[in-house]
Amino acid sequence: MQTEKILAPTLSRPRHFTREEQETWAEIMDSHRKKRKNQLHPIFLEGLELLEMDTNSIPDIQTVNKKLKKLTGWEGVFVKGFEDPRSFYPMLRDKQFPIGNFIRSKQDLSYTPEPDIVHDFYGHIPFLANKLYADYCQKLGELSGRVIHDAAKFREFERLFWFGVEFSLVKTQNGIRIFGAGIASSIGECEYALSQKPKVIPFDIDLVRKKEFRIDEMQREIFLLESPEQLYASLD
Ligand SMILES: [Fe+2]
Repeated sequence: MQTEKILAPTLSRPRHFTREEQETWAEIMDSHRKKRKNQLHPIFLEGLELLEMDTNSIPDIQTVNKKLKKLTGWEGVFVKGFEDPRSFYPMLRDKQFPIGNFIRSKQDLSYTPEPDIVHDFYGHIPFLANKLYADYCQKLGELSGRVIHDAAKFREFERLFWFGVEFSLVKTQNGIRIFGAGIASSIGECEYALSQKPKVIPFDIDLVRKKEFRIDEMQREIFLLESPEQLYASLD
């Protein structure tokens, strides 16, 4: 057993995004806009509308936060990029979602070396406008923080976050929809996740807590939820 402790987040001040960076955002939004209605779960689509984030320039974080705080008590907080799990999960506990304060290169819209503003802001924040979803993430942050000193147990929470919050599908009346924010924020991964290519496995918490994942490739195995509530109940 390792002794680990909570780390401070790598906070980053709001910055000015250049015209080229704004164009990158606009281009990505344009591609998502054409398809997401039939790809994404309604919770995400509702969040986008409630927070008025479907814009051709990067939405102002303060304006979005005002709305988000009113809805669920959460806020987006700029960080440098990848957050260590020992600061990431404590942030969730405190209803703060880290947002990488940079945007991927226009040269390759499908690749970002670390979670950027497209992944974090566009991918995660709309989901957090939903109270049940937001409460679930807060609880996940809180419970994982309690076992931060126990590497094996802490890892189980990381897997749950990965296979549930980042990369999952969910059944709806209209067919299978994307529920993972990691999929939602990537045009290529949206297409891929809903194609016949990945292996789709019924969500099973006992399987998830033991399953290793890779962060350097598209997910070859994706868990399918019966409903969002199935994920929310997984912490019990
Ligand atoms: Fe993420």
